Amino acid sequence: TEQTYIMIKPDGVQRGLVGEIIARFEKRGFKLAALKMETPSKELLEKHYGDLADKPFFPKLVKYMLSGPVICMVWEGLDAVKTGRVMLGATNPLASNPGTIRGDYALQVGMNVCHGSDSVENAKKEIELWFNNDVKQYKLDAAQWIYEA
Ligand code: GTP
Ligand code: MG
Repeated sequence: TEQTYIMIKPDGVQRGLVGEIIARFEKRGFKLAALKMETPSKELLEKHYGDLADKPFFPKLVKYMLSGPVICMVWEGLDAVKTGRVMLGATNPLASNPGTIRGDYALQVGMNVCHGSDSVENAKKEIELWFNNDVKQYKLDAAQWIYEA
């Protein structure tokens, strides 16, 4: 099944949203496959956001992500990458629907609380980058009440 890399950014940690964000993914029916708190290096963040290196906001983005610890997670389940992005909401919180994490808890793009992989291919890269692929495998017993036979 599909896995996605979800990260709670420094503002999400500072604002006490860790439990809330984890609860949303749990309650939706996704399986937690990896979880840790980390103070990432500049090098790691520059790799993670490598595709954005040419953007004018890139230095600001790296500084933001270095401003405190983050929560790193792998969530697994049906269409996890796309559904994870829907649960996060639009990049710019002002454009995010209510009911999404950003739409409920953020106002500005430079303080948008969370990250989610944008493709299955990038999810694989990010899980390797942040977890060195050290992801737990176990049977979620509740799955029989989440997925049709
Ligand atoms: P992530 O899940 O964090 O990757 O966000 P995203 O995929 O919705 O957007 P994208 O990958 O294009 O941008 C990565 C992050 O850079 C965003 O989540 C923002 O935190 C930040 N960012 C994007 N655009 C801007 C901008 O115009 N100004 C600032 N300050 N930050 C931006
Ligand atoms: Mg992105």
